[in-house]
Amino acid sequence: MPARTAKRDFPVVNARQILEPGPVVLVSSAWRGKTDIMTMGWHTMMEFTPSLMGCVIASSNNSFGMILKSGSCVVNVPTYDLADKVVGIGDCSGADTDKFAKFGLTPVPAKKVEAPLIKECFASFECEIADKRLVKTYNFFILKIVKAHVATSPKRPKTLHYHGEGVFSVPGTYLDLHKRFARKQNL
Ligand SMILES: Cc1cc2nc3c(=O)[nH]c(=O)nc-3n(C[C@H](O)[C@H](O)[C@H](O)COP(=O)(O)O)c2cc1C
Repeated sequence: MPARTAKRDFPVVNARQILEPGPVVLVSSAWRGKTDIMTMGWHTMMEFTPSLMGCVIASSNNSFGMILKSGSCVVNVPTYDLADKVVGIGDCSGADTDKFAKFGLTPVPAKKVEAPLIKECFASFECEIADKRLVKTYNFFILKIVKAHVATSPKRPKTLHYHGEGVFSVPGTYLDLHKRFARKQNL
């Protein structure tokens, strides 16, 4: 057991810096001939079958209306070589900027939703809104992944994980402990 330093009082607003779920994703959307992309640092898997994820999209984001009105989006997973674009996309609004053009990204038609995939990303998940009951109170969207596109390599991509205050981490160490699991379960 590693020794721990004494714990100090910590601002609850910063709990997100430690509970980051990662990886940072780029959410693309389309509505009435326009597209948008937003950077998203926080999301959570909620169910495996059907494949449900939850996320908060601030109503001040242009993407909020695009996703709500179209009922769908694509959750794209960038690797760390796209870090500058990830920050830039999260630092301007699709209301007055064509982010695909500005950041030199390639839109690829999706199979099941209107929003385009981002070609340069490692993975792209086509999503439909499964439940919007919590949008009004928490801006919380429950998305159902209806189609997944994942690059065949590398097996362990160097994704970006956000810790707040402009700080990101990139995974470097993996522990394969599958032999330590006594129960067979889909975790
Ligand atoms: C690293 C990072 C993580 C972010 N995470 C979220 C998030 O989880 N939810 C959210 O609503 N906005 C998040 N944002 C902010 C949006 O990406 C940002 O407001 C963006 O400009 C919205 O673009 P849009 O107005 O074109 O939709 C994040 C920004 C950055 C840089």
